[in-house]
Amino acid sequence: MDKIVIQGGKPLKGDVQISGAKNAALPILAAALLTEGVNTFHNIPDLVDIKTIKKLLAGMGAQIEGEQTVKIGTENITNHTAPYELVKTMRASILVLGPLVARAGRARVSLPGGCAIGARPVNLHIKALQALGAEVELNSGYIEARAKKLKGTDIYFDIPTVTGTENVMMAATLAEGTTVLNNAACEPEVVNLAEVLQGMGAKISGAGTDVITIEGVSSLHATEASIIPDRIEAGTFMIAAGMTQGEINVKGCNPQHLESLINKLRETGMKITPIKNGLKVSGGKKINSVDIKTLPYPGFPTDLQAQMMAYMTIAGGLSVITETVFENRFMHVSELLRMGADIVIQGNNAIVRGVPKLRGAPVMATDLRASASLILAALVAEGTSEISRIYHIDRGYESIEKKFSALGADIQRVKA
Ligand code: EPZ
Repeated sequence: MDKIVIQGGKPLKGDVQISGAKNAALPILAAALLTEGVNTFHNIPDLVDIKTIKKLLAGMGAQIEGEQTVKIGTENITNHTAPYELVKTMRASILVLGPLVARAGRARVSLPGGCAIGARPVNLHIKALQALGAEVELNSGYIEARAKKLKGTDIYFDIPTVTGTENVMMAATLAEGTTVLNNAACEPEVVNLAEVLQGMGAKISGAGTDVITIEGVSSLHATEASIIPDRIEAGTFMIAAGMTQGEINVKGCNPQHLESLINKLRETGMKITPIKNGLKVSGGKKINSVDIKTLPYPGFPTDLQAQMMAYMTIAGGLSVITETVFENRFMHVSELLRMGADIVIQGNNAIVRGVPKLRGAPVMATDLRASASLILAALVAEGTSEISRIYHIDRGYESIEKKFSALGADIQRVKA
């Protein structure tokens, strides 16, 4: 298995171009199942997870071509099953469930199973589809759903689930009557999906707020649209500028999607100024410790918690990091400790006491964002770090070592 080898200590300088958002591209590609005709989507990122959902959709009979611009038609869906072999590699495969039931009246989707960061049930997806009139059974690890015609209704999500909101919003576009999603997720990726669905002829209002109203229509047509920039990739590079006390122009990001992070990074002493088509981000002379509490959007994103923790390991004081979204998202802590960090976990809090220096070490990636935090730590650690199991990182970051090396980092991918 490949490794990433990093010699720490280089301040990062220069421009980085942010790719399309993984977590917007995945539901938008799944939404193609709802339409007749060929959809065209621009700014699709080159990621393993994108390859996975394209394989999944092609296996169902979708015609797909292209990389950064993808053309996808689903005239004849011949297979309504999302197999365990694919779903176990990417939980977001669950996003075909809603569109398939709405368009074809049936779906057989493997239960995703847990992952490193938590059990990650899909009970809220299922409950909402049942509320829309689908009959859902769980048979030998598969969700089997059927519905002649979904009927709009009022739905209340116990938790503002991102893919749950997306799945049910997609299903409701072809339901009879009106569906109101209460306590819906407000993430920018939900808004991007809603805009694409509107482009297909769906009648949706309130996306971006916690109440989304969908008026069902009889059919949807193909559309052409662009994926929003990846705010988590952008945030990862912004934190890297702070850690290495460098100066990076983060090009192509949308600052409005990053307000909670920008606010926190300024508190740590960084300078962040809007520039044409992005942000100029520079590290401060000293790094102030700040407290972080992850929350659904617009709160501080859980997907930047690990990266922020890496930053706080070299800050000047004590930082309390509270993870409220997932129950096991501190897998990066033990690896950061191997690099000399001082972190104590107490329940869903990590108490991070800043140390003057991290030391390079062999470490192991456990999940996508934990891998990013290990890369950030290695960029500032004294000496050499070797990061293994980097297949995690390739799921969500496009050519990460090329982007960091263009900023002056001493980073290589070593074929094992
Ligand atoms: C999406 O996952 C993202 N993935 C995650 O990004 C992100 O961390 C997460 O939202 C939170 O922002 C995609 O968009 C593809 P949730 P999702 O449903 O939708 C519980 C990354 O690194 N829950 O919003 O699966 C759940 O266990 C990934 O790019 C239920 O209990 O997350 C969690 O505690 C990681 N039952 C909370 O809700 C359900 O039916 C929020 O999960 C659904 C969720």
